[in-house]
Amino acid sequence: MNKQLRKAIIAGNWKMNKTPAETTKLIEEIAPLVKNADCTVIACVPFVDLHAAQEAAKGTNIEIGAENCHWATSGAFTGEISADMLASMGLKYVIIGHSERRQYFGETDVTVNNRVKAAIAAGLTVILCVGELLEQREQGITSEIVSLQTKIALQGVSKEQLSQIVIAYEPVWAIGTGKTATADQADEVCGVIRDVIAEIYDIESAGKMTIQYGGSMNEQNADELLSKIHVDGGLIGGASLVAEKFAKIIEAASK
Ligand code: 13P
Repeated sequence: MNKQLRKAIIAGNWKMNKTPAETTKLIEEIAPLVKNADCTVIACVPFVDLHAAQEAAKGTNIEIGAENCHWATSGAFTGEISADMLASMGLKYVIIGHSERRQYFGETDVTVNNRVKAAIAAGLTVILCVGELLEQREQGITSEIVSLQTKIALQGVSKEQLSQIVIAYEPVWAIGTGKTATADQADEVCGVIRDVIAEIYDIESAGKMTIQYGGSMNEQNADELLSKIHVDGGLIGGASLVAEKFAKIIEAASK
C-alpha cells in the first residue's frame, strides 16, 4: 500500500454545537490558520449552520459538509433532510453512520447503507463512520464488527462510486472520552478496513481509499496517529471547535 496515493482529509464534526453567528465566527478564525494546508479541510456543521458556514468559507480552502442525511429524496419524513437538499446547496460532504446516530437515534447498518446510497446518488461524498463498542473490543471482536459495518454500509456501492466514499474509523469508547486509541490500535483497525475494501472490490481500490481515525484526536496526539501507514486523516469532534487546536491537527496532516 502506498500512502502517497491518498490525500489526507481532516474533517471537523461540530455535532450539536454553534449557532449560525458562532459558526461564522469560528470559520473566520480557522480560515487564516489553515490557508496553507496540504490536506483537504472540511467542517461538518449542523443543518441550520450550513448556509452561514458556506458564506464564511467562500474564498477559503475550507469545505463544508453536513452531519447526516435521509435515504429518501423527498416525502413524509418530518424533521429529516434529504441528500438532494444538501447537494442543491452546493455542499459536497456528508457524515453518515456516526456512532451517536447509531446509539441515540436508532441508526442501523441497513439504514446507514440506505443513506450512503442516497448521498452517492445525489453526488455527495460520504464520510462513513464505523467503530466498535468497548464491550466488543474487550470481547476481541473489533475486526468482525468493523468489517461487518463496512460491508453492509457499502452494499450496492460500485467500485466507480468509491471515489465518493471516505471511511472514518471511530472506536466508540474513544469518542469524547479523552481516551484515544493508541496509534497502533488505530492503524491496525484502519488496516482491517482497507483489507475489507480489497476483499469486496480490489487492491487498487483499497490503496486509494482514504481512511480517517476519529476519537479524541487532538493537537497533541495527531502527529503520531497520522504517521501510521493506514491512517489518512482524522474526524475531529471537540478539538474542531477550537480554531488553534483544529489548525494544529491540520498542520500535522500537511507534513
Ligand atoms: P471527539 O474528537 O470529541 O472525541 O469526537 C470524535 C467524533 O465523534 C468525531 O466524529
